[in-house]
Amino acid sequence: MNANVPAIAGEGLTFEYTTEAGMAPVLRGASLEAARGEVLLVTGPSGSGKTTLLTVLAGMLTPTSGNVRIEGNAINHLGKSERARLRLNRLGFVFQGFNLIRAMSASENVELVLRARGLSRPECRRIARETFERLGIADKLQRLPMQLSGGEQQRVAIARALAGAPAVVLADEPTSSLDSENGAAVIQLLCELARERGSAVVITSHDQRIAPFADRVVTIDDGRCGSS
Ligand SMILES: Nc1ncnc2c1ncn2[C@@H]1O[C@H](COP(=O)(O)OP(=O)(O)OP(=O)(O)O)[C@@H](O)[C@H]1O
Ligand SMILES: [Mg+2]
Repeated sequence: MNANVPAIAGEGLTFEYTTEAGMAPVLRGASLEAARGEVLLVTGPSGSGKTTLLTVLAGMLTPTSGNVRIEGNAINHLGKSERARLRLNRLGFVFQGFNLIRAMSASENVELVLRARGLSRPECRRIARETFERLGIADKLQRLPMQLSGGEQQRVAIARALAGAPAVVLADEPTSSLDSENGAAVIQLLCELARERGSAVVITSHDQRIAPFADRVVTIDDGRCGSS
């Protein structure tokens, strides 16, 4: 892989939701990129389009115009199943609401992704345990999500996104369930782990206290991204 090619790039992205009142534009030519090992923070007020931008970057929403490239490859023309495969193998996503599977233990939530990638069961268990240890929740491996605090669920969601050392980690408001001290600690760990594993990270937050952990900060304003 050419080291000069960004792990993820969004180029001139536009997106609008169709609502009863008509088309509601959210992204109006947003561009950003992140290299492997780089942490990019996207800030902007509630409703500015942060979640929409990450969802488009992940290929879960198709932009009206513009391009998303993962490791140099445009994903726009890919079909649904090809995108799903790409997400599975190259991307980790921390959802704003965690999206943990309620009937599975914390460990199984992480192992599931690794199994789907074709790793053996013992290997999946080992990686899940190691990642939980790094995130300080090794004693919670067998708990169901509902038996965990919001902050612990957030760590499990981060573990799931990072476990397979993906090229790109997209994290939507990863500190929203944490007090500021824990929020800073989790972000520090997320950044550390991602840098160790050579993942590019795009974090969205309106919490400016995260800024010191990021290599770069961009602000989303009126559907466009600018350096701040
Ligand atoms: N499915 C949808 N249909 C219609 N409009 C939507 C939909 N999802 C989001 N929107 C609108 O798009 C805009 C951007 O939403 P988005 O969730 O991307 O913002 P955000 O920056 O992530 O906000 P927050 O900080 O509150 O999470 C908002 O005005 C929102 O109401
Ligand atoms: Mg959001």
